[in-house]
Amino acid sequence: MSDHIKFDFNNMFSFSVGKKHGIGPDELKRMSGLVKKSHEHLSGVLRSGKNRVKIGLEWARLPFQGRSSVATIQRLGNEVASKYENVISLGIGGSYLGLKAAQDALMPPYYNEFTGLRKGRPKVYFEGNNLDPDTIRVLLKNLDPKKTFVIVISKSGETTESKAAFAIVEAWLKRSVGKQYGRQIIAITDPYSGTLRKKVKLEQAKDALSFRSLPVLEGVGGRYSEFNVGLLHLAITGVDLKELLAGAAAMAKRCSSPDLFKNPAYLYAVLSYLFYKKGKPIAVVMPFSEGLKATAEWYVQLLAESLGKKYSRIIYRTKEGLESWQPDKQRIVNVGRTPVPCRGTGDLHSVQQNLAEGKNDKTVTFIKIKRFRQDVKVYGTGDFLSGRSYSQLLSLAQEATEWALVQEDRPNCAIILPRVNAFHWGELLFFFEMATAFEGELLNVNAFDQPGVEAYKQYMYYKLGKPGITKETAARIAGNPLLKKARFIF
Ligand code: PA5
Repeated sequence: MSDHIKFDFNNMFSFSVGKKHGIGPDELKRMSGLVKKSHEHLSGVLRSGKNRVKIGLEWARLPFQGRSSVATIQRLGNEVASKYENVISLGIGGSYLGLKAAQDALMPPYYNEFTGLRKGRPKVYFEGNNLDPDTIRVLLKNLDPKKTFVIVISKSGETTESKAAFAIVEAWLKRSVGKQYGRQIIAITDPYSGTLRKKVKLEQAKDALSFRSLPVLEGVGGRYSEFNVGLLHLAITGVDLKELLAGAAAMAKRCSSPDLFKNPAYLYAVLSYLFYKKGKPIAVVMPFSEGLKATAEWYVQLLAESLGKKYSRIIYRTKEGLESWQPDKQRIVNVGRTPVPCRGTGDLHSVQQNLAEGKNDKTVTFIKIKRFRQDVKVYGTGDFLSGRSYSQLLSLAQEATEWALVQEDRPNCAIILPRVNAFHWGELLFFFEMATAFEGELLNVNAFDQPGVEAYKQYMYYKLGKPGITKETAARIAGNPLLKKARFIF
């Protein structure tokens, strides 16, 4: 176990932060029935291939995906890397955040800026994750389309942001590359349905080398899909896919135990659940690393979309054991912790004041790195800082933050990575995914849907005149306009 991620939960218990704000042994004991029931249910669903696909838990098998499909992606990545100077990756939510997190964690800082850091691999730009006109315009104005490869990722193929960005980028490529522009595009989308899949089929019928594609696997939802949709990006940038998946697989093994003190994802979920019930609904994630800030942002989506739910879950089961999870419309629960991404040490000079002295309604999860890829020493200050290394100072700052929070009875825990590499990053992601799935079991909500993001989409579609809006939705939107009294706008 020495070269695996470690977890330090000490500061979540009452012996560290007091009875009122910490978890006591009795509280943990009282969870044993719910933990057993939740483990039996979750592990049962995970054992059934049909249930995994139907409910959206196939992500748990991604660490064990076939070597040949991984090798195909690796080849494709190497081919793109050898031919192009730039890659634009289009996507939003789960079709973007994991890639961005990987880019920042696993590539050297300033990867795009310095040729020497890229070791002959392309620069990577992300677009389609917003509707900000400035970024896409600047990017396309400054890139050479002939030297640029495009990855468009959308499971549904219907998402406004990625669809709009792709239309713009496609036209840009076509204009300067000409007829064969589609050979510079790979689409990662649903294997069977959606407008992007349709487009792939259409273009491939004309030219088999154009619009090549990879599938978003059945039963893998966006926010749980980095080990699926993110692999091509990692292959292009030269990350060892086998190491990444081996790390995820190692964590999957650790997270299969029913024993809370052997299964870090379960213990993290149970403690988080207890804190939530104790009036601490805010989940601060604070990596002490610049490169892991985007990983904290990835976790924000995972937690918010998975567990922020209006309705409780009803499980229907056929005689054959096939499950269907439905919202219990009779039981509004409005649950879910609110994730907040932070970064040490930068945010010690901002949010820390609130964490230490504001409302005691939060838990803080630190992510710390034992050994950085390189280090640097401070010199010339002529005082206590001289001769200290950055990593020593960073590690001390993290310990000091823990101490400061404990003094104020603020519960916190730490995830400790021996180093940031593909293996440990794979471990980290899988840990968070399994912890979220288990917390969903404890809360009895469906952690694999996101109905709450539909309302704003329907509103936009209605205003944009998209076909397919139901009469009821149209009436609801038309009948409930935003109230904009002139008095309150000045
Ligand atoms: O987790 C999810 O399923 C969502 O956040 C999606 O990833 C996001 O909405 C993007 O969807 P799509 O890949 O269909 O464009």
